[in-house]
Amino acid sequence: MAYNLLKGKRGIISGALNSSSIAWKVAEKAHEEGASFVLTNAPIAMRMGELNALSESTGAQIIPADATSVEDLTNLFEKSQEILGGKIDFVLHSIGMSVNVRKNIPYDATNYDYFQKGIDVSALSFHKMLAVAKKLDAISEWGSVVALTYCAAQRAYPFYNDMADIKAMLESIARSFGYHYGVDKKVRINTVSQSPTKTTAGSGIKGFGDFFDYADAISPLGNASAEDCANFCITLFSDLTKMVTMQNLYHDGGYFTTGVSTAVLEKMGIQQ
Ligand SMILES: NC(=O)c1ccc[n+]([C@@H]2O[C@H](COP(=O)([O-])OP(=O)(O)OC[C@H]3O[C@@H](n4cnc5c(N)ncnc54)[C@H](O)[C@@H]3O)[C@@H](O)[C@H]2O)c1
Repeated sequence: MAYNLLKGKRGIISGALNSSSIAWKVAEKAHEEGASFVLTNAPIAMRMGELNALSESTGAQIIPADATSVEDLTNLFEKSQEILGGKIDFVLHSIGMSVNVRKNIPYDATNYDYFQKGIDVSALSFHKMLAVAKKLDAISEWGSVVALTYCAAQRAYPFYNDMADIKAMLESIARSFGYHYGVDKKVRINTVSQSPTKTTAGSGIKGFGDFFDYADAISPLGNASAEDCANFCITLFSDLTKMVTMQNLYHDGGYFTTGVSTAVLEKMGIQQ
């Protein structure tokens, strides 16, 4: 059911790679809710060609941009305003990549070049996006920017590797930039801390399937799906959450604040 929550709003949605991507679901929901937007992803991701299907079904144009490149991001914000006919009301940062995770290099034997690449792609890209948007004055007053994160930024998850530190940085950028952009232009910036979700990035993490089941068993409401996450992002892009900024918002079925569940104890053979 649609509520026209984004009617008349213009957006930029990054990170839709295939139909499993969280950003893909956000784009579908944003379309249902009446938004017009552009899709963006790294030029290399375009080669897979899947984004064209989403572009067709949502009527959104695609602007390739490597999120580590200030030049590409400048082009992204300039062209998006031209295409959409005005300033941008919402932006989704849905970008994450760790070479250390991909190559299965343990945290305590990390490759620092890969670590820096991970920081650049997954955290600094958020700062760059915001800095470019602010310099161009490309986001309208009360506009909303959301980045996706994971609660390994707060707690130790050994398999999450360097992405844990990188997500902590991402969340910090949301707070710091949220202050400056809020004071100067009333733009709000939040991170959404999502449940484990079966996507290309998620499934690249060692032992992801088992952990997905564990998180599902801990969470009173179960794991939040990509569709649920998209719905939540839509509320954050809407005017109904106008005074929410500089927050890290858990969207995880109650996982983060649950210590233990009877379902997990039962899995361990402990009867209550
Ligand atoms: N899947 C999960 O379990 C989970 C949980 C919490 C948070 N997240 C976060 O959600 C976000 C989206 O991930 P997803 O799970 O939908 O996976 P995904 O693999 O579908 O999306 C990751 C995207 O990042 C893009 N990307 C990588 N390098 C880039 C670059 N240099 N420039 C521009 N784009 C680039 C990829 O092309 C891809 O579209 C990530 O930030 C991820 O960390 C995922």
